[in-house]
Amino acid sequence: MTQKIIIDTDPGQDDAVAILLALASPEIEVLGITAVAGNVPLPLTQLNARKICELAGRADMRVFAGCDAPMRRALVTAEHVHGRTGLDGPDLPEPTMPLQQAHAVDFIIDTLRSQPAGSVTLCPLGPLTNIATAFARAPDIVGRVQRVVLMGGAYFEVGNITPAAEFNIHVDPEAADIVLKSGVEIVMMPLDVTHQALTTRARIRAFREMGTRVGTVVAELTDFFERFDVEKYGSEGAPLHDPCVIAWLLQPELFEGRHVNVEIETTSPLTLGMTVADWWGVTDRPPNATFIGKVDADGFYRLLTERLARL
Ligand code: RIB
Ligand code: CA
Repeated sequence: MTQKIIIDTDPGQDDAVAILLALASPEIEVLGITAVAGNVPLPLTQLNARKICELAGRADMRVFAGCDAPMRRALVTAEHVHGRTGLDGPDLPEPTMPLQQAHAVDFIIDTLRSQPAGSVTLCPLGPLTNIATAFARAPDIVGRVQRVVLMGGAYFEVGNITPAAEFNIHVDPEAADIVLKSGVEIVMMPLDVTHQALTTRARIRAFREMGTRVGTVVAELTDFFERFDVEKYGSEGAPLHDPCVIAWLLQPELFEGRHVNVEIETTSPLTLGMTVADWWGVTDRPPNATFIGKVDADGFYRLLTERLARL
């Protein structure tokens, strides 16, 4: 039984690897890819999504452009991490596949209304603007979502764009608040777990040694992506955040988490976008997300490398 998903994304080198992993995996049927403003502005995230689909040989994939700014705030981007294009590293050709005319939010709403209830998983890899806008505009779809598996948040690992907040949540905290309070089943991949999935020299070499175009491009993407984190954290390699979402769909046993209450800071300028996870159950706030804290990093990279080699 294939898992039907919609990938909502702001490519971004790590988003690109997540999209490739999904397209390489027969267990997953990607119904569409919706681009959102995040790492770089929307014109670039929708372009990058199409470049990656064509790299995977999937010019048939439907790519939609969504919201070009957070629900209530100015856009914050991360060119310092991803480069001016958002996909710096490899030299990818301009895509020939078209961008779909429909707005991404309409695609999300229409798909959830037309697919059987509980059969579609949403996989947000960037700010939650498209998802929250769809939920706000069409509350009837919330109960039809199978689950949301998202990359975002941080608790023990603290923030990466501010001392308190992870980028995806910080960019649109109101959107994250809507999703976390919607009642939908949520699996969160915070920095707590993605910082365990580091690209190392050996792991990047394994991509390059595939001898395929995809392997070479992924090596170039991760080479570029890691330079910022290595300098900032002094760690060997960069955290491959977004592919953790797709890997969880494929092999959830690689991950460990806890069903806890998570709330979003939406007012304090100091901690805006912080995900306050009640990890120790010290409040009576009801659990609303499975907050993932561990991954078998070797198993994750084994899965990723094996799958990417298929493209
Ligand atoms: O904080 C990491 C997240 O922000 C990842 O999804 C990365 O692509 C950026 O969107
Ligand atoms: Ca992303």
